[in-house]
Amino acid sequence: MECDVVLATGVTHQYRAGGRNVDALRGLTLSVPRGSWTMLVGRSGAGKSTLLGLLSGQIEWYGTGEISLEGKSLRVLDGSSRARMLFQVRQDPLTSTAPDLTVAEHLVLADSCPESRQKSWIHRARDTCFPLRSAHTGSFSSLLREHGLAEYLDAPVAELSGGERQLLVLLLAHLRRVPFLILDEPLSNVDDVHARRCLEVLHRLNQAGTTILMVTHDLHVACAHGDRLACVGAGRTLAEFAGAAKNELAPSRLWELMETAEINISSARGAVDA
Ligand SMILES: Nc1ncnc2c1ncn2[C@@H]1O[C@H](COP(=O)(O)OP(=O)(O)OP(=O)(O)O)[C@@H](O)[C@H]1O
Ligand SMILES: [Mg+2]
Repeated sequence: MECDVVLATGVTHQYRAGGRNVDALRGLTLSVPRGSWTMLVGRSGAGKSTLLGLLSGQIEWYGTGEISLEGKSLRVLDGSSRARMLFQVRQDPLTSTAPDLTVAEHLVLADSCPESRQKSWIHRARDTCFPLRSAHTGSFSSLLREHGLAEYLDAPVAELSGGERQLLVLLLAHLRRVPFLILDEPLSNVDDVHARRCLEVLHRLNQAGTTILMVTHDLHVACAHGDRLACVGAGRTLAEFAGAAKNELAPSRLWELMETAEINISSARGAVDA
């Protein structure tokens, strides 16, 4: 049987802050099957970014439980193996683009060097693939036109707005045939028009076979897109939805789930303090 892209069971993680331990994950469980688009929702502080940070290797993991990526334990995967397996889209798209290069140059590099999946891929690709750029530039005009970026073909990326840059980052991920995309609130700084365009590119990526794990606070977006959803609270999984249960899921149900979890957590804390 094919393994899940991510399988997390009973995961704990603590931060050390100001001389005390902060429990960020307290037994979180999650599965992200290959080819799925899994939404991850939960109140602030629930542990969503921590989980993504553990997956990408941005946060070192010393906790208990098990997390596997493509069937291999995170504990044995080095940075370059992870970089080949996944690509992280952050709130700030500046981190995965080079402001001095034009949009066309980014597209050529992404298309020519799909195997460069490191965080700094654009800088590495620039050194190895640059001679290819002028040959391909014209072929990307229609792609940009389709996504409302046509006028920026020869503009340095520094001249794009945050929303336009986020859209470009997703188009680059598409061209690079990224197998697994993790996104932490990718639409939080993006207007409605660009958010819709970004979601269209994500649908395309997913249809082309990319597995997606996306954190969002927009419960309408979480319910309307993707085929799975995990709701987390205080470092634990409150519920996972797939298939018909995901299709029928309404924002109000998620809101209720989070609200009830919060009430339970506060009363448990109250009982401990009493
Ligand atoms: N670097 C850190 N040092 C100490 N505690 C941290 C650190 N990063 C996160 N935490 C704590 O870990 C818990 C989970 O944080 P995390 O950032 O994963 O939440 P989140 O679900 O992504 O929240 P948000 O929706 O606000 O982004 C919180 O209690 C947070 O205060
Ligand atoms: Mg977060």
